[in-house]
Amino acid sequence: MTGTANEQARKAAEGLAYSSGFGNEHSSEAVPGALPVGRNSPQRAPLGLYAEQLSGSAFTEPRRHNRRSWLYRIRPSAAHPPFARANRGEIRSAPFTECLPDPNRLRWDPLPEPADPTDFVDGLWTLGGNGDATQRTGMAVHLYHVNTSMERRVFGDSDGELLIVPERGGLLLRTEFGLLRAEPGQVALIPRGVRFRVELLDATARGYVCENYGRPFELPDLGPIGANGLANARDFLAPTAAYEDVEEPVEVVNKFCGHLWTATYDHSPLDVVAWHGNHVPYVYDLRRFNVIGSISYDHPDPSIFTVLTSPSDTPGLAGVDFVVFAPRWLVGEDTFRPPYFHRNVMSEYMGLIEGAYDAKAQGFVPGGGSLHNMMSAHGPDRETFERASAAELVPQKVDDGLAFMFETRWPLTLTEQARNADHLQRGYDGVWQGLQRHFRP
Ligand SMILES: [Fe+2]
Repeated sequence: MTGTANEQARKAAEGLAYSSGFGNEHSSEAVPGALPVGRNSPQRAPLGLYAEQLSGSAFTEPRRHNRRSWLYRIRPSAAHPPFARANRGEIRSAPFTECLPDPNRLRWDPLPEPADPTDFVDGLWTLGGNGDATQRTGMAVHLYHVNTSMERRVFGDSDGELLIVPERGGLLLRTEFGLLRAEPGQVALIPRGVRFRVELLDATARGYVCENYGRPFELPDLGPIGANGLANARDFLAPTAAYEDVEEPVEVVNKFCGHLWTATYDHSPLDVVAWHGNHVPYVYDLRRFNVIGSISYDHPDPSIFTVLTSPSDTPGLAGVDFVVFAPRWLVGEDTFRPPYFHRNVMSEYMGLIEGAYDAKAQGFVPGGGSLHNMMSAHGPDRETFERASAAELVPQKVDDGLAFMFETRWPLTLTEQARNADHLQRGYDGVWQGLQRHFRP
């Protein structure tokens, strides 16, 4: 939280080198010669390092879903003391049983700033989710509002991967694979099990996290769109190797089956000197998203804005999709251009990174969020409907906002803290009040 700590993080975040591409084999070495050539686990790994495989998929999953990396590190991860249960703060996990699943449309203001020094792990606040972490199904929505860098502390999530969506304040993510810088407008993806520490580039940081218990996120198939478009693989940036050779106590917090466990190592586990593989963290700039939409009439379904998808066993039915509403032109003729009224078998949690969203006149603010659960009727508010129905349909650039959605196949069940939060807006239903009857048979 000190200026010095922020400055140190900022300096470390300057001029980071990355390796481009999603899902392909990356490799990096922080010391020349640290990466073995031609084999994964030679009898003696170079430079006296230990070789270790980190598997993000079962060994036998089809090649397109297979995720693993080889890490060459100062000590193997196995060299650690027992983990003990730790206070999980405001982190909750699937299965979510505190509240009944709720068909009501709900909306929240931003998470309040913490009164005390709070780092990323202490600051995670779970809104709700679905599935079962022990069955590796479903997802959770978390928010964070933090004011302190993690110090002598790293975090790893055995339950799933973490898609971090900064809304305010930049983050420096020191991972086993190297450093990533994630500013608002960018997202960071931390694969299951990868250890990392979050340092703040600004005095405070606020944002959203999708914890995906299911199959790792991948780029959606493009079908007739062709070989290019939406999120392009080359815009996903993996870190280059950077390691800590630190022989002092470091707390490792492991989220395992919904609870936090902690152990104090006698060294930093961010001690990977070289690595290769495709189970790697990424950062992606949402403004790189190639928006594709209608150039004739009608408003396409928001699936056209899918950045990443976690497929399920049913083709086309995602455990969770990450969708972005990026700047774009609207040119549809004879078209109601904002998102249409609808009821959806999927459940939608929406957040706002900056600006405004074209279906809501007010009340949906950066850092806030809305939940429209399975079959809950929603769409433009009255003001937006009246305006869009009367608008002259000249080409229009929508470029004053960056909204996103976590869309999931199962209803989201809230935590008690989300259901009873002071920042839950009372009377959200009111935005659809006053929609006039226009029927004239
Ligand atoms: Fe919707």
